Amino acid sequence: MKDLTIHHAKESRVANVDFQNLPFGKIISDHMFEIDYDGKQWVNPRISPVEKMSIHPMNMALHYGQSIFEGMKASRSKDGTPLLFRPELHAKRMNASAVRMCMPEIPEDIFVEAIHAIVGIDQEWIPKIEGSAMYIRPLMFATDEMVGVKASDTYKFMIICLPVGPYYPKPIKLLVEPHYIRAAQGGVGEAKTAGNYAAALYPSKLAREQGYDQVLWLDAVHHKFVQEVGTMNIFFVFNNEIVTPATSGTILKGITRASTLEILRGNGHTVNERDLSIDEVLSRYQAGELIEVFGTGTAALIANVEEIKYDNHFIRLDSSNWALSTSIKDEINGMRFGTIEDKRGWTVPVKEVAVTA
Ligand code: COI
Repeated sequence: MKDLTIHHAKESRVANVDFQNLPFGKIISDHMFEIDYDGKQWVNPRISPVEKMSIHPMNMALHYGQSIFEGMKASRSKDGTPLLFRPELHAKRMNASAVRMCMPEIPEDIFVEAIHAIVGIDQEWIPKIEGSAMYIRPLMFATDEMVGVKASDTYKFMIICLPVGPYYPKPIKLLVEPHYIRAAQGGVGEAKTAGNYAAALYPSKLAREQGYDQVLWLDAVHHKFVQEVGTMNIFFVFNNEIVTPATSGTILKGITRASTLEILRGNGHTVNERDLSIDEVLSRYQAGELIEVFGTGTAALIANVEEIKYDNHFIRLDSSNWALSTSIKDEINGMRFGTIEDKRGWTVPVKEVAVTA
């Protein structure tokens, strides 16, 4: 990457990490990548030791929410090579979010090279234990200092890396949200923008108070059709078809969702992306046709659902039937850890990034 400067940490903190007991999202690696948008172009790419950043009280991201991010994972193949999973798709989705939030796109080659560079430098932080990974968090936010609603002229794009354990260490329970909504047509539900997650916090808190891990969102118009979970997309396995809600503007276009669809279809399964009402889910459950429900996401990978509460109804799923979700998890993990052949070319070995002055 042209003009990339690298300042190494004097001493790595990696020896202090208990890789056997990794929480999700609390431990950060030694280095971070930054590049700034000066209103015309991206300038001053740099990798430096992680440190706190100072922020101006008029920073526009704080006031008006121009803030987007991605979530990706790096793993280590059985011969020790650090691997990325479909980085180019994350670059494209980051830019789709940027366009929607009136932010500048980051050239895909800068995005992808920066991921290679930071993961290459901090590769000792990639956990070797099954179920763990290095979570990569690219983010972009407004940096103009002004109070007044307009798009910022300047931005910062960064990448940080976190060794993580499983996001959901055990099967989860979902509460069908009876009142609040996540996204409406024409809104920002498809963008990976911070406000979508903030808006979900209060309903999620109410769900947790009732003993549920997450909210299952319904559509904003009819309050009838299943959307997603907020931290992941959702799949329903019936006896004769697999259904996941179609991404028609209100649902995040998950990369694990897309990978799962390709794997399922490649293995000869019928998967329909369509409207699915919660009443259909309930009646097919009552008819004995619902076999598995699982979420897909970068952080969650494949998360089994053991219970869904809808109104006064309970959908309870029997873990002895979770063969399909287990096979998808095994296939994706097999590629990520190099234990099965990656016929689709989804994993990319981390390459040394040339630093040119
Ligand atoms: C991801 O799966 O990467 C996300 O950003 C979801 C978040 C709950 C960590």
